[in-house]
Amino acid sequence: MKNYDSIKHVRGESLFLDDQLTPTGTLFAYVSYSPIAHGKIKKIDLSEAEKLQGVKAIITAKDIPGENQIGGIIQDEDLFAENEVHFVGHPIALVVAETQLIAHEAADLIKYEFRKLPVITDPRKAAALGELIQKPRTFNLGNTEKAFNKCDFVFEGKVESGGQEHLYLETQGAFAHPVEGGGVKIYSSTQGPTAVQRVTSRILGIPMHKVEVDVLRLGGGFGGKEDQASPWGAMAALAAFKLNEPVKLVLPRQVDIKITGKRHPYSSDFKIGLNKDGKILAYEASYYQNAGAAADLSTAVLERTLFHCTNSYFIPNVKATAYCCRTNLPPNTAFRGFGGPQGMFVIESAITKAAEEMGLNKIDLQKRNLLDEGDEFPYGQKTEHCRIKRCFTEAEKKYDLKKMQKSVSAFNSKNKLFKKGLAVMPVTFGISFTSTFMNQASALVHIYTDGSISVSTAAVEMGQGVNEKIRNVVKNVFSVDLNRIKIETTNTSRVANTSPTAASKAADLNGFATKKACEIILERLKKVVANELNIKQYNNITIQQETIYNKGKKTKLSFDKLIQIAYLNRVSLSAQAHHSTPNIHFDKSKEKGQPFAYHAYGVGIVQATVDCIRGTYEIDSVKVVHDFGKSLHPIVDKGQAEGGIVQGIGWMTMEEVLYNDEGQLLTNALSTYKVPDIHFAPNDIQVLFLENSPNPYGPYQSKAIGEPPLMYGIGAYFAIRNAIKEFKRKNKLPFKAPMTPENVLLSLYKNIS
Ligand code: MTE
Ligand code: MOS
Repeated sequence: MKNYDSIKHVRGESLFLDDQLTPTGTLFAYVSYSPIAHGKIKKIDLSEAEKLQGVKAIITAKDIPGENQIGGIIQDEDLFAENEVHFVGHPIALVVAETQLIAHEAADLIKYEFRKLPVITDPRKAAALGELIQKPRTFNLGNTEKAFNKCDFVFEGKVESGGQEHLYLETQGAFAHPVEGGGVKIYSSTQGPTAVQRVTSRILGIPMHKVEVDVLRLGGGFGGKEDQASPWGAMAALAAFKLNEPVKLVLPRQVDIKITGKRHPYSSDFKIGLNKDGKILAYEASYYQNAGAAADLSTAVLERTLFHCTNSYFIPNVKATAYCCRTNLPPNTAFRGFGGPQGMFVIESAITKAAEEMGLNKIDLQKRNLLDEGDEFPYGQKTEHCRIKRCFTEAEKKYDLKKMQKSVSAFNSKNKLFKKGLAVMPVTFGISFTSTFMNQASALVHIYTDGSISVSTAAVEMGQGVNEKIRNVVKNVFSVDLNRIKIETTNTSRVANTSPTAASKAADLNGFATKKACEIILERLKKVVANELNIKQYNNITIQQETIYNKGKKTKLSFDKLIQIAYLNRVSLSAQAHHSTPNIHFDKSKEKGQPFAYHAYGVGIVQATVDCIRGTYEIDSVKVVHDFGKSLHPIVDKGQAEGGIVQGIGWMTMEEVLYNDEGQLLTNALSTYKVPDIHFAPNDIQVLFLENSPNPYGPYQSKAIGEPPLMYGIGAYFAIRNAIKEFKRKNKLPFKAPMTPENVLLSLYKNIS
């Protein structure tokens, strides 16, 4: 995968937050946090810590000049705990010292006394105790009660899915320095520069224009830095503000894993009703989301679970209810797919159960119920340019699914101790922030007098290649060499009021805004050409590969020359433009609307082999047909698909986030928390682009790609499950992810009959 940053990355020249040059005299901060999951703070004793040589200050809630509040959607989260702690890792104090080591050492000298309170880690228990962050929400279509009466088959079940550590290569961090006039400038590793700015202005009690946030690039975010980068930015700024010195705060890996939120674990119930032909007539689901100790983005994540409760299927009667449950874990947050994967895992489990009980092939059941053009989702939107069936038939054909099924059966009949399983995973994912107002972006474009082009947008580059896509948008408008085009840092003073780079929407929103800004300049340039060459109609003027044409004929002007002429004629070579997604809306009081600009579609076939002695497994292959639209950058898009697939497989199989009943994270290092590495990644990942599938709602007909492929990983769970069932046919297996080797082994041998 080669993009804008590849060469710099490989040479180690790309700068991440901790690499950026800082002035001499920069101080270092370390977060001191609650060692218990719930309790009253009786005493904070800083005396020993303060005595340590090199300690400059220890900052607590008392030192906050503004409001001790960092909550985004719901204002329910403090920056530093004041009276009560709500999770292990709840920040209480910030130690600022000459070196990071001294800061860490001093933090260890702070003494706390607590009065312990009961700890809740289970979302169903939280719900039973009334610990809900918001009122339950229900999406309704048709009438499930009536429909169940008409069903030939009705099945019920319970589904558990686990958390997931983001494990961005670059941990959370920020560097802040005071600026003249009582402001701060923050360099942050954040997906949401405006969120850092807003939170910091609230904490410091100063207007937003006094807080400038700058982001060069992220060593990965995956949702973990959408809202959860803000506290570290605000803390560094608070320290810089107080001490009038530059301050850097970078979380060490183990601290990052321990105290930051993860993908939400869910515990869910389903009820599915079908007629004897395998048509799904009714579906009910309840989702208990483990939100952790504060709202963070949980309510929005949960909303997306509801939006994707029926995945790629048309079900005429649906009732889905979602509970946002407050527990004493670190507040869980956005993670690639944003609640969608959790919802999809439940419907796939329900269909699996139906197929198993009815003695049908699950793939046939899936096919029979796929969305058609014009079908209605439970939230009222109807499909348009629905391509899920096309993806399905293409995948069947291109990868010869029949042959794959046959060879799996042949293998299984020949082998006793190794079994293979196959699963198909369709994905339909809505593209747009589900909060309509967030679907906006802007861009600022300058052309300098030498013809080089500078582009600022709201998009944050975090490895997903958005910068390269935006460069291609600029290239498409001006028809100039890519090397002329530079993407600047994401900066709140250049581009204001940004939505975070999230919801897979960065390239769409910022691509459109950039296109618009470039077109404003292009229009002016054409007028300059018309004037210069005495052409009456400037409509026929074009730029083709750095040369100016009129009515398809080459003129004497080059792009460079044109820029000089424009400048000398005092024509502005800068433009700013704003884009907002048209025709989207959602009415929360009715839970109906048109929340998405469009949907992403695709189908993945996953094959796995289980070693039935050891419980270990391999993912043999993942074969996908995905609708990329007309890709802005096929290599980047393919990289996103492959990365998403492996990350999804990790969530469903080996990655297990475990807390004990006291709310202590047991898997707080890479020795205990396993992520897919290159040896585990499937040997065979094939991603085919659905042909002839332009997207009328994306820039240059492209489609968003960042999150949807993650959900192919769900297929790995069912492929392994199918292999287990080949070994032990009668076994009633629970629907519980992750399917770790331990769980596979237990499934293979527990209650063996
Ligand atoms: N790819 C890389 N390499 N690193 C990341 O952090 N984040 C994912 C996805 N792909 C991520 C990534 C998530 S969660 C989202 S929402 C999208 O990228 C955001 O970027 P986009 O809007 O440009 O697709
Ligand atoms: Mo992505 S979870 O929307 O940052």
